Amino acid sequence: MPLLERARAGFANAFGQEPLGVAFAPGRVNLIGEHVDYNDGLVLPMPITAGTAVAWGPAGADTVEAVALDFNQARDRFNPATAAPLKPPGWESYVRGMAQLAGQSGVALAITGSIPQGSGLSSSASMCVAVGRALAAAAQAAIPDPAELAQAARQVEHDWAGVHCGIMDQMAVAAGQPGAALLLDCRTLQTRQIALPADWAVMVVQSGVVRELASGHYNARRSDCESAARQLGLPALRDADPAIIAAADLDPVVRRRALHVVQEIERVKAAVGAIETGDIESFGRLLRASHASLRDLFEVSVPQVDQLAELLNAAICRDGGARMTGGGFGGAVVAVLRADQVARVKAAVEQDYSAPGGARLSIMIEGAGGQAAGKLK
Ligand code: GLA
Repeated sequence: MPLLERARAGFANAFGQEPLGVAFAPGRVNLIGEHVDYNDGLVLPMPITAGTAVAWGPAGADTVEAVALDFNQARDRFNPATAAPLKPPGWESYVRGMAQLAGQSGVALAITGSIPQGSGLSSSASMCVAVGRALAAAAQAAIPDPAELAQAARQVEHDWAGVHCGIMDQMAVAAGQPGAALLLDCRTLQTRQIALPADWAVMVVQSGVVRELASGHYNARRSDCESAARQLGLPALRDADPAIIAAADLDPVVRRRALHVVQEIERVKAAVGAIETGDIESFGRLLRASHASLRDLFEVSVPQVDQLAELLNAAICRDGGARMTGGGFGGAVVAVLRADQVARVKAAVEQDYSAPGGARLSIMIEGAGGQAAGKLK
């Protein structure tokens, strides 16, 4: 059943009435610009087809009632004015946080999604933005401004889930357009939609290693970067460059983190140029360099993800490239390649990669050329 239908039917089943509407928000895959958003850098994510649907309707005064259709119909019922964070955080935390920030009650929500969790494809940002859109629709408020919605969703991630993330995921989900990469300046929140060439495809392959974003590694990387900026006397690593880092007396680990950030921001700029000139070979080289840097300097990859990226890069050859995507420590690998190579590369990786526990390999094909290649099969 299509996602929006699933939300609608799930709402009717859970609350005994038809919903008044269904809101949607996509997930995102980050093409390049990893671990630079919280350093005020530039990033290049893209919304994906998978996402979260939230059917909404009325509920009693001072109450929000929510049902998680994918978690065995688990329910939460709360008064947003008095709701408090849960320990450990769960799906309810995001709904509570968004409802409290919106200052809204009297709403019933049925939530369902198609983004694999722990895959680095922003299932939680997608859920927050979809809930925010459902709440705005229920309040008959104007369509929320994407940047405001994204900032609310980030605040919920910080305060209700304890993850000190940047703004990339929420902005990609709230402001991204299908088939286009979103160039986002994380300092100013300025955006530019950059359509991918029609003959490029984006392939997202799950490594099968589930990532735990809140496990502490993420927050630790962020504080390494903040400490580097402090020691360099700069507002953020965005303001540094390799020469400044080389000249400073930094701890070797902090130096590696800082070097990754400044070089990754330069790679994002070069990647935009490669899209605009349709130069997929250069784009692929940038993806490979980003992966190596995340593995060796930022140290957020794991061996299975390295292996998957290597297999993809070997199969793709000069027709693009692949790298880990998202926060790291497992999750997915993104490949950008010529659309006419998708079937061949997919077959190669299906043959050569074995996901942990023998799980079936999950591969998504995105982008204008990707959709066309998907239809050809
Ligand atoms: C997670 C965070 C983002 C970003 C990425 C790494 O997805 O939510 O803010 O920092 O990791 O680029």
